[in-house]
Amino acid sequence: MSSWKEKCCLVWRRLARRKALSEVRGTRHERHEAEFEVRMKTFKEFDNERLHSSLGHRTSRLDKKWRNNKVAKRRPVIAGNWKMFKTVSEAEDYAVRFLEEVKDVTELDIILCAPFTALYPLKNELEESVVHLGAQNMSWADQGAYTGEISAQMLLDVACTYVILGHSERREFYGETDQEIAKKVQKALAAGLTPIFCVGENLNVREEGKAAERVQAQVSLALSSLSIEELSRIVIAYEPIWAIGTGKTASSNDAQEMCAAIRNTLTGLMGLDAEKVPILYGGSVKAENIVELLNEPDVDGALVGGASLDPLGFAKLVHNAAAVVARAEGI
Ligand code: PGA
Repeated sequence: MSSWKEKCCLVWRRLARRKALSEVRGTRHERHEAEFEVRMKTFKEFDNERLHSSLGHRTSRLDKKWRNNKVAKRRPVIAGNWKMFKTVSEAEDYAVRFLEEVKDVTELDIILCAPFTALYPLKNELEESVVHLGAQNMSWADQGAYTGEISAQMLLDVACTYVILGHSERREFYGETDQEIAKKVQKALAAGLTPIFCVGENLNVREEGKAAERVQAQVSLALSSLSIEELSRIVIAYEPIWAIGTGKTASSNDAQEMCAAIRNTLTGLMGLDAEKVPILYGGSVKAENIVELLNEPDVDGALVGGASLDPLGFAKLVHNAAAVVARAEGI
């Protein structure tokens, strides 16, 4: 990257932090805001250029370069989100069959995000395997009179290393707000868990042409108070609500565009370190479409709901993803 571009990133980052700080303090510095908009426009022009070169002028050489670059910077992630499915015995049976299929996969991180009741049995099944354990939610409180909640310490106790936070189903059915989600992300990071922080727009917002704006606002609201060190320990999942469980997948171009927009916002918060943050796509991902998605320069993996419920089907998806990574690494 040229020094001009680096400078542009740094200035944008400084201004974004200053803007976030002034908002937190409740004082709006009009001058900084105007300056921020101007700089942001300049940065967007630079990023559009980058996006254009990745989407518009595809040659196989350029493609390969992007993939090699991407894999060198970010380890891909495939995470299964079981949602409210599977009893303890079903989870145990799944683990045995799944592990048999994926035990030799080393090209990417594999995560199973199970219901709370299945976490302890899975701890035993997955011990010393290539599969990491994740939860689907947690409280922002350490402990106390919070009926029905689960703390970060409780998740660590059953060997969880990941936790999904801000999933659209939590936002929609349980009224989770950006502020609450921000508190949960902070708590997870403080405890040493890796949050899989979800963002995504609904169909109305997409049809109004405001998808990127909405998702960038969700990222800023939840993450702008974090340090660069904290931000570099996060995984982000872009999940358009209209694609979750509907069988409709965003096109790989749309997924790329949105993941690039998210990385843009991250660059404003953490500068060039944003290149190291894995951004996943979620929404009707299957073994059949993972390759196309993973070939995009800013899509670093997937959060998979329905297609993670069958151990053999999910293993096939993992193998297809691993083959993309192996190709990029020239293995
Ligand atoms: P889906 O769910 O793959 O069933 O669309 C994705 C998710 O909600 O994480």
